[in-house]
Amino acid sequence: MLKKKIVVAYSGGLDTSVMVKWLSEKYNADIITATGFLGQVKEIEGVKEKAAQTGAVKSYVLDLREEFITQYVWKALKAGALYEGAYPMATAIGRPLLAKMLVDIAVKENADTVSHGCTGKGNDQVRFEVGVQALAPQLDIIAPLRLWEFKSREEEMEYAVKHNIPIKASKDNPYSIDENLWGIAIECGVLEDPTAAPPEDAYQITTSPQNAPDKPATITIGFEKGIPVTLNGTELNPVELVSQLRDLGAAYGIGRLDLIENRVVGIKSREIYEAPAAIILHTAHSELERLVLDKETFRYKQDVSNKIANLIYDGLWYSPLFNALSAFVDSTQENVTGEVKLELYKGNIKTLSRSSQYSLYNKKLATYTVEDTFDHKASEGFIKIYGLPYKTLCHVKNQSNEEVTA
Ligand code: ARG
Repeated sequence: MLKKKIVVAYSGGLDTSVMVKWLSEKYNADIITATGFLGQVKEIEGVKEKAAQTGAVKSYVLDLREEFITQYVWKALKAGALYEGAYPMATAIGRPLLAKMLVDIAVKENADTVSHGCTGKGNDQVRFEVGVQALAPQLDIIAPLRLWEFKSREEEMEYAVKHNIPIKASKDNPYSIDENLWGIAIECGVLEDPTAAPPEDAYQITTSPQNAPDKPATITIGFEKGIPVTLNGTELNPVELVSQLRDLGAAYGIGRLDLIENRVVGIKSREIYEAPAAIILHTAHSELERLVLDKETFRYKQDVSNKIANLIYDGLWYSPLFNALSAFVDSTQENVTGEVKLELYKGNIKTLSRSSQYSLYNKKLATYTVEDTFDHKASEGFIKIYGLPYKTLCHVKNQSNEEVTA
């Protein structure tokens, strides 16, 4: 009989390293590791060697950065998707792509099972598993962290030492960190106390606003149909553009968030985020939309943004509703072309200018000078009719015998 093959979503950290050995023993299986490179700087070094040392028969390390930015991040950016109005969802946007990677490799390798290292109380288990179910429902899914006997990191470490699994002595970092180009999520340790301000060492990439440069930086971002294409007038490929904004934003203390959020499984959690590129680009993008979207589309899109953010957060990226709402968003982006100039200064972003060939801002209509072309008298009749329902209502309330006139 052929040996069972399991494709494991592998980060190279303690959990997934222990998982490789544990799965191969428990299921008498060949383990193939799959690591998607989405721009996580620290973890990716030596991951292939580590996988081999841990006992994987084969390992994939795929640079998915371009696909991540163009097929996933841009959709969320165009949608203005910020979960609970704030979190730009670097982790939540990355998971569906990693689920797709697992599925692609499982199909290629003829494996019937995939596995991930998410815990039983987080959102990521939902995102991975719903993603796999939507793309390849024939695959079995094993989530060792929901099943295995280890009750603490220490027990996992013991197992790792016993089985010669290479692990970094990781007492130095008390946090659980998830990183990609769009942002970093940091939880655990002292952060579990929502009354405690995050210590400076919780932040992994951003300079504290206090220590950021005393002189501001000015940047100009150019958009085409809702997608950022230039930085300071230079066309950049998507990965380069996001990387440069991440580094620059981080140096100016931009993109720190400290949030309590509602998880899919119903608990509230406290998480710290650093998302310089995401916050800069969402700010610039929404500023441009303010200029070019007509009033009704602008207002309606606010509801759609919120709905899309919930779908992404809740693991429903590969769903008909997400596709349908994304098509709506794309239609709204037809005229979201233009430039936004921002100032970055000690953790803050200020809009300096916005411009577009599709700008709906009409100076002659808006001005209070003699240039004014707006017919002020026309407002009188408009407001009479516009207010008529409330005038009628008041008459009824007061049982007034007077005639209601428009
Ligand atoms: N709370 C975030 C989300 O569900 C991030 C989860 C991963 N966080 C972490 N520190 N490992 O999208």
